Amino acid sequence: MGIGNVRSAISGLAPYRPGKGAAQAEREHGIVDAIKLASNENPFEPVPAVAAAIREAATGVNRYGDHRATELRSALARWIGVPQERVTVGCGSVGLLQQLCLTYLDPGDEAVYPWLSFEAYPVCVKMMGAVPVNPPLVDHRFDLEAVAAAVTDRTKLILLATPNNPTGTAVSSAELATLLSSIPDDVVVLVDEAYREFADPELGDPVAELLPVHRNLVVTRTFSKAYGLAGLRVGYAITDPEIVAQIDKILIPFAVNNLAQAGALAALASLDQIQPKVDQILDERARVITELTQAGWKLPPAEANFVYLATAERTDEIYVELERRGVVTRPFSGDGIRVTIGTPTENDRFLATLADIASP
Ligand SMILES: Cc1ncc(COP(=O)(O)O)c(C=O)c1O
Repeated sequence: MGIGNVRSAISGLAPYRPGKGAAQAEREHGIVDAIKLASNENPFEPVPAVAAAIREAATGVNRYGDHRATELRSALARWIGVPQERVTVGCGSVGLLQQLCLTYLDPGDEAVYPWLSFEAYPVCVKMMGAVPVNPPLVDHRFDLEAVAAAVTDRTKLILLATPNNPTGTAVSSAELATLLSSIPDDVVVLVDEAYREFADPELGDPVAELLPVHRNLVVTRTFSKAYGLAGLRVGYAITDPEIVAQIDKILIPFAVNNLAQAGALAALASLDQIQPKVDQILDERARVITELTQAGWKLPPAEANFVYLATAERTDEIYVELERRGVVTRPFSGDGIRVTIGTPTENDRFLATLADIASP
């Protein structure tokens, strides 16, 4: 007999699976000096101004922060160029994903998201007792026609990560516009741009191009990846003020904490120091892709801060061997291995280790 009446949506739920840490891999394999390339984190420490702002905010953590993070919302709105009532913040962009699912999904409703995609999607959808509908990827890319065709009168949400995690492929604003025009406008569409800053600017900007026309569009972005604040947990959404008002009701009190607000505000004031680090990650991504391609590996176009090796049925064998030699990656059994772009030294180690243990 279990304790209490656990909702069936929760008792049957597989928990979110985070990337394995270096220390865990060291324990499991009896090794030292492991490196983690498993969670698409930024390998660089926060720039000094951001670190200083977080340290200063730490002296005030006996007080709750500003629940609504008003100063941060207003700085974001100015930066993005939208009215403040179109912006909200969450405990990471995954917090906003959860708020959207709580707001729009009743048991039995359908949420459409292509698969493979971000592993938090099934958790948030299923926790509501809603039904995932998963059009398959084609050549590691989204098939947006299949997404539109999967919409029924039970569909309440569409979740699209662009660039996608784990494949790294992206869709353009023009492709999103076609999708948005072909579905009912009471279906809320989340465009999850956690990796936007690493993507080709030619793909367009859904906030500038699509938000003025499509009130059912929600774009989420985050300070976790390009801005290097994953541990602070702060993301934001840009959408219609009516959607902001609904999802704001269920923001966990003070979930965007004092340190997160101070760090995010300082990051916005330090973009000139942060951009060179993003550029360095992009240069490293280009170098890793060139080396892998020259070695014969075929990769889907990488638009985020990671690459995806389509290792298919060899996935488990290759990732375990990498890990035994201290390179911790993220496997997707039977499909591929996602490898985060790290520091130049870490990337060298990954490339050399892969070359030692596997050929394409
Ligand atoms: C597609 C996608 N969306 C959202 C997130 C979560 O980001 P955050 O740290 O803002 O919650 C991730 C993190 O890996 C991701 O891959």
